[in-house]
Amino acid sequence: VSSVEVDLAPIEPGQRVTVKWRGKPVFIDHRPPERIAEARAVDLNELIDPQTDGDRVVREEWLIVVGICTHLGCVPLGQRQGDPVGNWDGWFCPCHGSHYDSSGRVRRGPAPLNLEVPPYEFVTDTAVRIG
Ligand code: FES
Repeated sequence: VSSVEVDLAPIEPGQRVTVKWRGKPVFIDHRPPERIAEARAVDLNELIDPQTDGDRVVREEWLIVVGICTHLGCVPLGQRQGDPVGNWDGWFCPCHGSHYDSSGRVRRGPAPLNLEVPPYEFVTDTAVRIG
């Protein structure tokens, strides 16, 4: 299957869900207001791979990224309750210690690039099609 449709209605604010798309984990993060604010407050000059949060989301409360570290392909932690989320409230890659922020942007390497945003669109107010 080249695309996958996800019902967002059951995902509470603050909750993260992982789905599979083309064999890859895709992280869906229903961001609460404070995580959105953090992601938007960043000075782009601080970023390893500069991108605005607005370039990475369609709707600011929904961050959707491929859950594969851009260093050597581990799956970063942060999807489950109690996981380390790194120093920027996003994800932490346990393989070599990369940190990603609440927009999925790399903030501390060795990862060189932000978590990839897959192609997706909202098919209804509460459903997205990825791919
Ligand atoms: Fe993630 Fe190396 S694979 S830091």
